[in-house]
Parts: sequence; structure tokens; C-alpha cells
Amino acid sequence: MRFQRFHQLRTTPTARRRNSEVGLAPSDFVLPLFVHEALKKPQNIKALPGVCQYSLGSVVRKVEQVLKTGVNKFLIFGIPKIKTIDGANAYDPDSIVSRVIQVLKKKFGQQIELQTDVCLCSYLKSGHCGLLNKNGTLRNDATLKIIQKIAQVHATAGVDWVAPSGMCDGAVAAIRQVIPKKTKILGYSAKFASSFYGPFRAATDCAPTTGDRQTYQLNPANAKEALAEVKADLEEGAHAVMVKPAGPYLDVITKARQLTRKPLYAYQVSGEYVSLVLAIRQGYLGQEAIHESLLGIKRAGADRIITYFADRLDFW
Ligand code: PBG
Repeated sequence: MRFQRFHQLRTTPTARRRNSEVGLAPSDFVLPLFVHEALKKPQNIKALPGVCQYSLGSVVRKVEQVLKTGVNKFLIFGIPKIKTIDGANAYDPDSIVSRVIQVLKKKFGQQIELQTDVCLCSYLKSGHCGLLNKNGTLRNDATLKIIQKIAQVHATAGVDWVAPSGMCDGAVAAIRQVIPKKTKILGYSAKFASSFYGPFRAATDCAPTTGDRQTYQLNPANAKEALAEVKADLEEGAHAVMVKPAGPYLDVITKARQLTRKPLYAYQVSGEYVSLVLAIRQGYLGQEAIHESLLGIKRAGADRIITYFADRLDFW
């Protein structure tokens, strides 16, 4: 009888590590950070157990702590005191996000890589990612003008990367026109209309007050269309692209990988995080499930993973 013996490579932890096709390292990870303009100290987010909203002062201490683990990339989300119908607080040069960029870059310089979410959903009363037509669809080109202003303000404040997340057509090209060359663009290229964003919307208070985001975010049934979006962002000059959520869209990650050698990000979103955290807390899953979920994303082809677990990964 002829057959292959695979077990020999799996007998010990050392053998298994030596025979690993992929691994996880601190440089793979990006930690999302929420900063709230009205806070004086950190506040736990009920919808995202284990995650906080930070004040300007406390976010500096948080970054300092996380740097000790080797993770040095951060994605900043701002939450303003006041939402308006035009979202003007998003491009105020004195906005919470601008101040965070300035303070963190002054203190940590090149030690950290900062990315900012460029979107209107936390700043608009409607909770949508842009201005709306009467029928609830996005006023794409009018929104692009605002997105440009936000990106300009973040770039001037010194951010390393801007990440337009609103799924506006042409966002990367529009931003490219108005920001300096040294500021890079991470396209949220394949962002699906996902129910896994629920906890995030509670965390940043950006749930749409009417309708939903299906008129501009990708249909979860469509991988080919997602790849066309990735391609478009690359053609518009994105320095890196993203697939989001990660776990339910591993096929899209693998296919996007084949399109480019530029950094490919995957975002393990709030709902994926909460599902794991709760299952582990309740004893239904072991802690190792976190590692496995991240390894799967890496193996699918992502170079970088944005995850709320990035500040507590001590098991490389
Ligand atoms: C805003 C934005 C969302 C997320 C990141 N940026 C929510 C949305 O599009 O509804 C989701 C992140 C997460 O769920 O962790 N455009």
C-alpha cells in the first residue's frame, strides 16, 4: 500500500512552527483607536467589550503602551461633540482627529504609522457616509468635495495615510488631486454592506437614521464587482487596498492578492471581534480561536490586518 505520511511534520510544537506556511508578527497589525472630542478620560464601549473611546490625553498613553508590544500602526476614528447636516466638523483644522494626529506625530514621529478614517458618517446627523439625494442614494460627486477637504486637513496635520471608507466612487482619485505626494492613500476598496459593522456603529454613534448603506457599499453576493473596485482604486493611485470585513470574505482577499503587489489590508470588523470575544468569555471557544481567525486572514493573502485584538496579541 502506498500513501504519504504527513504526521511527521506535526509531532511537536517546534516541528509545527518550522512547517508553518504563514505566521503572525506585530508588524502585520493595525489597531483602530476611537477618540471622542467630549471625553476627558477613556470610556468603555458597551457594544465592543474590551475596547474604549479615548480622550486626546489618554490616547497618547494608550499608544505608548501598545508600542511596547511591537504594534506601531494605528487607524484613528474621530467622534465629534456635535453632528451637523453638512458634516463640517470633519474638516475643521481644529477637529479632534487633527489634534490627535498632531499630538501623536509630535511625540512619536516615525516610530508610529498613523492612518485616519476619512468619512462623514460620524459627523452627519443622517449617519450616512455622505450627503444624500431625496431617494436615499448617495450624492457621490458632492460628497467627494467634502472628502477632499477632510483628507487635506488630515494631511496638513501630518497623518501618514488617509483611508477613505465611504465607498464613494472616485474617492482615491479625488483625494490624490489635493494631498501632497508624501501622504499615502489606503482605499477601503472592497467594503461590503455588512451586518458585522453593527457594534462599530454604536461605538462611533454613526448608525444611519434612515435607510441603510446598501445603495453604496458592496453587495455581499459579489466578488467580481469587489475586484473591479479594487482595480479601480489601484488605477486611481491607491498605495494600498483593503477588503472588509475579513473573515466572511476570505475568497475576495485571495483574489485581490492576485491583482496587486501593493499592501493588501483586511479589516476584521467589530462584529467579527464581538462574536469571538463573547464566545470565549462564555466558554464556548478557547482563546486560541483569535489566533486562528487571524492566521486564516493572513493565509488568504492579506499582508496587514486591522483588528481590535491588535493590542493584546502576545502569542506570536
Ligand atoms: C465608516 C466605517 C464603518 C466601519 C469602519 N468605517 C462602518 C460602516 O461603514 O457602517 C466598520 C468597522 C467595524 O465594524 O469595525 N464608514
